[in-house]
Amino acid sequence: MISALDPSALSLNENPFAPLPAVRAALIRSAGAANRYPDFLPTRLRRLVAQHAGVPEDSVVLGSGASGVAMQVLSALTSPGDRIVLSRPTFDGYPIFARIARLSTVDVPLDHYGRHDLAAMIRAAADARVVVLCRPHNPTGTLEPLADVDAFLQRIPADTVVLLDEAYIEFVAPNQRIDPAAVLRRFPNVVVLRTFSKAYGLAGLRIGYGLAAPDLAATLWDMQVPFGIPADCLVAVAASYGAEAQLRQRIGAITAERRCLRSRLWEAGVATTDSQANFVYLPAGVRPWRDVFAGLQVRHYPDGAVRITIGSRESTRMVLSALGRALNAPADARHSRTRLAAARRPAPRPAGSAAVRLPARALG
Ligand SMILES: Cc1ncc(COP(=O)(O)O)c(C=O)c1O
Repeated sequence: MISALDPSALSLNENPFAPLPAVRAALIRSAGAANRYPDFLPTRLRRLVAQHAGVPEDSVVLGSGASGVAMQVLSALTSPGDRIVLSRPTFDGYPIFARIARLSTVDVPLDHYGRHDLAAMIRAAADARVVVLCRPHNPTGTLEPLADVDAFLQRIPADTVVLLDEAYIEFVAPNQRIDPAAVLRRFPNVVVLRTFSKAYGLAGLRIGYGLAAPDLAATLWDMQVPFGIPADCLVAVAASYGAEAQLRQRIGAITAERRCLRSRLWEAGVATTDSQANFVYLPAGVRPWRDVFAGLQVRHYPDGAVRITIGSRESTRMVLSALGRALNAPADARHSRTRLAAARRPAPRPAGSAAVRLPARALG
């Protein structure tokens, strides 16, 4: 049985809170009608999401998580052998989706601040069918400035589809979010991807949506599988929208916990990227993060970097005590202790939007 509150489950960027009482009550009520099919097509959920996102109804498509919507986009708009431009590293799903759709992946390494190399992505997009921009990015949590995204979209060819992945957008300050309605009006090749898995804390229900200009959305809506979105999804989204104030409080608690963890890591000499999401990213250094965080479920990367989801206060304590234990390792671990101590270099204080420059070999 999965536990809602396991403080060591820090590898999937899940929400550390169990569903809100109103959401749980609505789900329990809806379970009583599980003998019935849901809506043939998710038109009621579409209307609800459109109103909330401030876009016309015919701009919304629904899927089994943002992952499901991404797959709908690739199935509807690509042919085997087409190119897809991805940052490296990126959300683990994208290389899998590309493989399923039999696309050829063009990897563009992140820059040394953990940000997308937008200029290189524009060059690569010139002969690609799809380009993916995550804002904030996973795994680094960095956020491309609004003006840079605008300039980027202007330079992408009109027949290249842009997946603008906003899986973590609710963690971003409102004045740093794009206005989806305005973007869709100007860029008919953009699909904005969002999910209820992260800030809304409904990863287990698998609800995601895409926003696109009506023509593109119509092509994607044609891919909606009959009875494909469970009734629970409508019920949970309606209850969540009705409890926005409580959700905002939870988001505030998670971002406060992220600030706390980043500062404590900084005090311990550990640099992190400027994450605007519900996780922190520690680039590879001389520290063997795999050993340091051995008892925790965190996401390790082949180059030695690690991504840690923000959990409860208990989770933060577990992360910091694992680090503390490594820094104070006894004599038989003298070698790694020396390496750890050597790595304790001052890093810029993680405040505001200050960027942390990563070691040259940390990414890529
Ligand atoms: C950037 C990004 N996009 C999409 C997803 C997929 O989310 P979902 O649970 O809605 O499929 C994730 C999940 O971790 C993610 O990090």
